[in-house]
Amino acid sequence: MTDLLAATARRAEPARQVAARTVDLRKVYGTGDAALAALDGVSLEFVTGEFTAVMGPSGSGKSTLLHCMAALDTASSGRVYVGDTELSGLNDRKLTRLRRDKLGFVFQSYNLIPTLSARENIVLPLAIAGRRPDPAWFDEVVDAVGMRDRLEHRPHELSGGQQQRAAAARALVSKPAIVFADEPTGNLDSRAGAELLSFLRRSVDEHGQTIVMVTHDPVAAAYTDRVIFLADGKVVGDLREPTADAVLERMKHLSSAASGATGIGS
Ligand SMILES: Nc1ncnc2c1ncn2[C@@H]1O[C@H](COP(=O)(O)OP(=O)(O)OP(=O)(O)O)[C@@H](O)[C@H]1O
Ligand SMILES: [Mg+2]
Repeated sequence: MTDLLAATARRAEPARQVAARTVDLRKVYGTGDAALAALDGVSLEFVTGEFTAVMGPSGSGKSTLLHCMAALDTASSGRVYVGDTELSGLNDRKLTRLRRDKLGFVFQSYNLIPTLSARENIVLPLAIAGRRPDPAWFDEVVDAVGMRDRLEHRPHELSGGQQQRAAAARALVSKPAIVFADEPTGNLDSRAGAELLSFLRRSVDEHGQTIVMVTHDPVAAAYTDRVIFLADGKVVGDLREPTADAVLERMKHLSSAASGATGIGS
């Protein structure tokens, strides 16, 4: 009977699928004395339907990690898997297709196309893929980021925060397997930031979205399921069910240990 119960409980547990992972990832910039390991042996798993924050001092390798995982940059060594697919095994055409069909990215610098309206920017990845946005989901995303009345404006007619919100909408509207977001609330006031974070949280809880988000803000990190701490290109902490206080405490210890990225030879 106990065995039967245990077996039933096991069956009821949802399968834990890995959405993306890295194996001993290294990224070295420059050569010789100028060589710098922005990533220095990073092995991580990101589970489907989980919201993960990546934190760490400026220069610790957060953006580099996201760029390598999203096939926007190539690692010097190690492996990146999106689902079961290893990125280094793909040619340019297949990489482009994977980025287009599976990944969403919110850049630290937004990367909106200046000649297109906010609406056109938001649906651009879908348009390139020859797909139409699901109108109900488009509306939900646009309303969640508060861009409804700015859709026909071009980026230079938008505030920094509005550009950031348009960039977030663009990453979410195609419902990619994974969304990578590099400080998506960095330029938002606390109310707009909280709205975007609540929406990201909801898309995880209600749609099983997988999100990996860089943030410097312990309050933003508290919206996630897990916080990975980087320092000098290495994983130095992994905190589950984070509270803002717990994150802040961990950051205090890190900032005394970390002093920017190290040179290879040092
Ligand atoms: N293209 C590049 N060429 C040389 N060095 C680079 C390049 N891009 C990043 N770096 C270096 O790699 C290290 C990690 O950079 P990265 O942008 O990943 O940091 P980060 O953690 O995202 O920092 P921030 O919080 O300031 O955005 C830094 O020391 C940076 O100077
Ligand atoms: Mg960065």
